[in-house]
Amino acid sequence: MDVKRIGVIGAGQMGGGIAQVAATVGLDVMLMDIKTEFIEKGMAAISANLSRAEKKGKISAEEAKAVLQRIKSTTDIAGMQEADFVIEAASEVEEIKGKIFQKLDEVCPAKTILSSNTSSIPIGRIASMTSRPDKVIGMHFMNPVPVMKLVEVIRALPTSDETFQATVSLAEKMNKEVAVANDYPGFIANRILLPMINEAIFCLYQSVGTRESIDTVMRLGMNHPMGPLALADLIGLDTCLAILETLHKGLGDPKYRPCPMLRQYVEAGWLGRKTGRGFYSYS
Ligand code: CAA
Repeated sequence: MDVKRIGVIGAGQMGGGIAQVAATVGLDVMLMDIKTEFIEKGMAAISANLSRAEKKGKISAEEAKAVLQRIKSTTDIAGMQEADFVIEAASEVEEIKGKIFQKLDEVCPAKTILSSNTSSIPIGRIASMTSRPDKVIGMHFMNPVPVMKLVEVIRALPTSDETFQATVSLAEKMNKEVAVANDYPGFIANRILLPMINEAIFCLYQSVGTRESIDTVMRLGMNHPMGPLALADLIGLDTCLAILETLHKGLGDPKYRPCPMLRQYVEAGWLGRKTGRGFYSYS
């Protein structure tokens, strides 16, 4: 399958990053979100990333302009009907994703592959909401998408070999390396990452250390590029909570229970970088 046009649902940090990377490798992109202001914010972030790359001499002004021109946008999901391959990167809420996949199934031609960038929701459950479960797959990018090399490709029980091969080819075309995971809650990346982040939050909650000492231990002691609390702020505390709840519910093991402090922050609207406040403050 030769993928030329991709649809991206969600213009937030993940969707915007996916759109940028796809357009950079020459794919035509249709970026969809429910509000014009969300699309404008996403496009502004892409422009800022490209300007930074241009200033560093990594791309020319013409290339940056061409990348932006390859990204079209819409607030209507029917705009996905031209796409060969759709990557959904909406909020990590199963009900929202379910509705999107049902709608995509209606508007997209039968040949179109529908993938989800979900961080933890089982792909089989999403696939079962469509009439093409063999063409549904997980394509899990890491944040920040333009920088991180990995795409975790998740095969659900009904995913066909053709769908899997087309997804691996697309990820490689986007200059990413693929790791394949089977369809269990959290897959590989978040099954391992989120318990570490949750434990770091428990350390803060139980005053084992300050946020700075916890992050410093992991940065300098384990050579992580950033500490787990700073990373939670980057991922979004609402997303971290949603992933832990999926792990807890899906695997039934109390070791995945979210730290009460994480829930408290989310309920206060302290969601990390995107709201200007999480474990750290951002101005
Ligand atoms: N978008 C695009 N580019 C970005 C960026 C962003 N949001 N943030 C940083 N960059 C680029 C910078 O422009 C810079 O590029 P050059 O090398 O070309 O100059 C490069 O990344 C390094 O940036 P900085 O020098 O500003 O800062 P840094 O060296 O501290 O790196 C970081 C920043 C890449 C975020 C690094 O700290 C890092 O790798 N952190 C860990 C990220 C991580 O673990 N991500 C996975 C999260 S889990 C996930 O995404 C899955 C999930 O489901 C929850």
